Amino acid sequence: MKRALLTLTALTLVAAPATARTWAEIKQSGTIKIATEGAFPPFNMLKGKQLTGFEVELAEALAAQLGLKVQWTTQPFDNLLIGLNQGRYDFVIASHGVNPERAKAVDFTNPHYCTGGAIVARVGGPLTAAALRGKSVAVQVGTTYLDNVRKVPGVGDVKTYPTDTAAQAALMAGRVDAWVGDKFTGIDLVKAQKGKLQQGDLLFNERVAMAVKKGNSSLLKELNAALAKAQQNGTYAKLSQKYFGQDVRCR
Ligand code: ARG
Repeated sequence: MKRALLTLTALTLVAAPATARTWAEIKQSGTIKIATEGAFPPFNMLKGKQLTGFEVELAEALAAQLGLKVQWTTQPFDNLLIGLNQGRYDFVIASHGVNPERAKAVDFTNPHYCTGGAIVARVGGPLTAAALRGKSVAVQVGTTYLDNVRKVPGVGDVKTYPTDTAAQAALMAGRVDAWVGDKFTGIDLVKAQKGKLQQGDLLFNERVAMAVKKGNSSLLKELNAALAKAQQNGTYAKLSQKYFGQDVRCR
């Protein structure tokens, strides 16, 4: 709770002075500046030095539709919205679930996928919210997983990690009883660990969207139009199939 409040204060404080580039300015420059984390597979990650993932490919497809080149920046997840409000890049695509706290600091596009936060444990470990009573849970710092796990009645120690993959590693090493993270990430994690892990209950659902600096309505409009077009012309469906074997758009 304390951390969430501090984060909000930090976002609000830096929100005021910096100006964001308008759509006209971006179009004129020919290049759109996009930020992501690059450590959240299968959504945004590095393969060697190459940034890839569902969100990276989707953002590049949207930029191509808008007739723009892309300049990527990677930042720790916790810093992404702060940098956005400092005008360091035009938008962020990093699996941010839309929630009221974030919506005070930035403006969100229409959602680019729908998902939820799910429990994963070692075989025999806690798989329901009730079973988390007194148990330790690993989550990435600054995420909706942290907020939601803290709300589970009687939950034990909630340990935060700088990246989601570090939180997963803590589960595999037996340093915590459970991990809470994205349900699609959870499916991949369980598969990769062949029989050692199990996916448990969904704790909450969320709509995930791209973020622009608060008030950048001209860019917001273009991103929403580009997303709608990609969802109509098959570009989105193809990428979603590639990464998830299903269509993850919100319905
Ligand atoms: N969907 C979760 C949230 O809204 C996790 C996002 C984590 N993203 C990342 N790039 N690590 O907080």
